[in-house]
Amino acid sequence: MAHFDDKRRQFLQFAAFGTAAAAWPGFALAEMAKMTNAPSSAFKPDVEIELTARAGAVSIKPGAATRVFQYQGKLLKGPASTLTEMPGYLGPTLNLVHGQKVRIIFYNELTEPTVAHWHGLHVPQKMDGHPMYAINRGERYVYEFEVKNPAGTNWYHAHTHEMTATQVYQGLAGLITITDEQEQKLELPSSEYDLPIVIQDRRFTSDNQLLYLQHGMQERIRGFLGDTILINGQIDRIIPVKTRAYRLRLFNGSNSRIYKLGWEDGTPLTAIGTDGALLEKPETFPYIMLAPAERVELWVDFSGREPGSDLVLHSLEYHGVMPRMGGGMRGGRGMMRDGLGQGSKFPLVKFHIAGKASESPQLPPVLSKFKRLTHRDVANPDKPIQIGLSMMHMSPELNHRSFEMLAVAEGEKIPVNTIQKIKIVQEDHAMRGRRGMGGGDGRGEGGRRGGGMGMMMSMAHPIHLHGQQFQILSRLIQDQHGSGYETVKDGFINSGWKDTVLVMPGEEVTIIKPFQDYTGLYLYHCHNLEHEDMGMMRNFLVS
Ligand code: C2O
Ligand code: CU
Ligand code: CU
Repeated sequence: MAHFDDKRRQFLQFAAFGTAAAAWPGFALAEMAKMTNAPSSAFKPDVEIELTARAGAVSIKPGAATRVFQYQGKLLKGPASTLTEMPGYLGPTLNLVHGQKVRIIFYNELTEPTVAHWHGLHVPQKMDGHPMYAINRGERYVYEFEVKNPAGTNWYHAHTHEMTATQVYQGLAGLITITDEQEQKLELPSSEYDLPIVIQDRRFTSDNQLLYLQHGMQERIRGFLGDTILINGQIDRIIPVKTRAYRLRLFNGSNSRIYKLGWEDGTPLTAIGTDGALLEKPETFPYIMLAPAERVELWVDFSGREPGSDLVLHSLEYHGVMPRMGGGMRGGRGMMRDGLGQGSKFPLVKFHIAGKASESPQLPPVLSKFKRLTHRDVANPDKPIQIGLSMMHMSPELNHRSFEMLAVAEGEKIPVNTIQKIKIVQEDHAMRGRRGMGGGDGRGEGGRRGGGMGMMMSMAHPIHLHGQQFQILSRLIQDQHGSGYETVKDGFINSGWKDTVLVMPGEEVTIIKPFQDYTGLYLYHCHNLEHEDMGMMRNFLVS
């Protein structure tokens, strides 16, 4: 990890990077360089929270405490229910209400820069935690925004330039729940029957310290995979439940591990919500794919289960998401050397039926008003914005570009208050047929193609767009045969509001996304955090 002075210097280099200003003439560099800000007297908060990022130590495994990074929260104003503590290293859950005005006074007590991003929330650019707003030790940043999102489960995390993966890995993440009137009328299971399930994989040294990447470039390309599953920051989690219905808010807070959620006894899963909101109606799935950053809300009814019995939620076996190099290792599990391979089967969390409940709520047949966006709503029905995913020469990129702090390319400019069609395509995959022709990527290294790590790879990428949530219009898959796609395809929820979508090798996913209310730079990136830090991230300029 680089010392923060280096990062600071790097930041200043970005700020002084002339072409960035040219890309956005209205963009004042002086304003950009001002990294701290003050509370606005015009903003009247309903909720005021002090949030501090700091180093700490928590007990995760028996024996020595684990050194972590942590968000610590203190409620200065607002309902007492606004903050609920989570065990382990996770930050407090922020329980917000639609329409609330929220002020978060953020302090950095780490010895490296950091910035906080409210993943899934629709907020002004300056409040969105773009890495340009990172603050150093001892500095403060004031976030002020109105909660415009509907009821749902979101989260917050560090979004620091080239340090997102390490900071989130060390603990800088927490949940955000939002409620609204429409949701409250449903009388969904609440309080002790409304359970957060944060799933993360970690790796520990023999004296209980977090271990990150060990195997160099190959492991970064694949993404970090831990060998120990933490649920809400704890190992071997057993959750006692009663014989009644629960609302489970599952969230994949892992750097790059993709889970295939399924009950050990084959009971189907009933989804009631996706990343950003409740579904229109409950939907049933044999299993559900949950990629990094994705959330799914489940209705789980333990009625009729024997007190004393257990029900285990697993990640089931699947194939086809790992790098496939030039057609070799087809559908393989990739380069896992030890521990839990991506796509292997293992238990996640055990629910222990600890007692009987006398009554249980009924699953509402309709959950939310849902307006399906169609071609008729979009400004560019025939000219979708393209996001091409590629990993040529060990460099995960978007449209063959790497992240540049402030830069915006021609195809990344979006008029504010429009709804756009966006096509996300796996480019390496499309090139598979042309292997051996050399060149083709414009970098003159075509000779390496077809052997070693220089050749084309195609792997699944969880693509996340900041700002408003989007809808999935279509998923097209080519060359499905033998790819492992059939082991994941029934686990995608394509009907709800999303902010992250898993794009499989050979897949083309078309989405419709509104860009309303706010102008400025909004990030889009791969939420495989190793890929994000390697530069698989870009800006949209909404103006
Ligand atoms: Cu989870 Cu750019 O964010
Ligand atoms: Cu985000
Ligand atoms: Cu990726």
